[in-house]
Amino acid sequence: MIRAFLSYLMHSTNEHGVHSPFVFDMMTKCIYDKKPQNAYKTINGYKKALINDKTVLNITDFGAGSRIFKTNQRQVKAIAKHAGISQKRGQLLYRLCKCYNVKNALELGTSLGIGTSALALGSQHVTTLEGCPETARIAKQYFEQFKLSNIQLIQGDFEESINQLKDTFDLIYIDGNHQEVATLRYFEQLISLSHNDTLFIFDDIHWSKGMENAWQTIYNDKRVTVSIDTFQWGIVSLRKEQQKEHFVIRF
Ligand SMILES: C[S@@+](CC[C@H](N)C(=O)[O-])C[C@H]1O[C@@H](n2cnc3c(N)ncnc32)[C@H](O)[C@@H]1O
Repeated sequence: MIRAFLSYLMHSTNEHGVHSPFVFDMMTKCIYDKKPQNAYKTINGYKKALINDKTVLNITDFGAGSRIFKTNQRQVKAIAKHAGISQKRGQLLYRLCKCYNVKNALELGTSLGIGTSALALGSQHVTTLEGCPETARIAKQYFEQFKLSNIQLIQGDFEESINQLKDTFDLIYIDGNHQEVATLRYFEQLISLSHNDTLFIFDDIHWSKGMENAWQTIYNDKRVTVSIDTFQWGIVSLRKEQQKEHFVIRF
């Protein structure tokens, strides 16, 4: 992880080092956009409310497990702090939805729904998938409390839930089960739910050797044209009109 971060620092660039108009526009109009937005108050308020919630949950562990938690009894506030998306990334998720006029978003890994709240505020409809029944129950309570009514939460294992989906999605955020083989399998499944302009966002691409491998396989895939490494996230587009190019950008 430290070596990966040092390599990222050495190779990453800002918008001045990028010649692709598609990526330059994404950086200037979206990623680096610092204008305040009303929606940020809700995204930040949502996370804040969870961080004050001392309810204890019995977690059913799906995916790659946690490096932080040693037992399955967890407080909502601890999950929100350690597994929840940061405010900075939540706001970027919202901006990506707005910049690319996302109507239909998909999230793998609801957890308590912090990322979901950003997607719901930025798009017309969000489908979000979560394995743990207790976590899903609390997320649904918070969606109601924050009047986020454009969310469908499907509780179950990712692979089975994805198989039930029929729609295509404009933005797909993969934030759960950070394992090499599973990530690559989800990518294959999700490609069939995408269109030419779908944006894929993979979280924690440098989290482990397995995720490094998965990320390399994804950005080397012939179908992937644009791939952007922001260290925490890998953003991918399959737009056929783009030439194949890989970017490492500062965020
Ligand atoms: C890092 S958290 C998601 C954080 C959330 N997106 C946010 O923005 O706060 C990952 C979630 O994915 C769920 N998960 C992991 N593997 C899964 C699987 N195979 N099927 C269903 N859910 C899974 C976990 O239960 C966990 O709640």
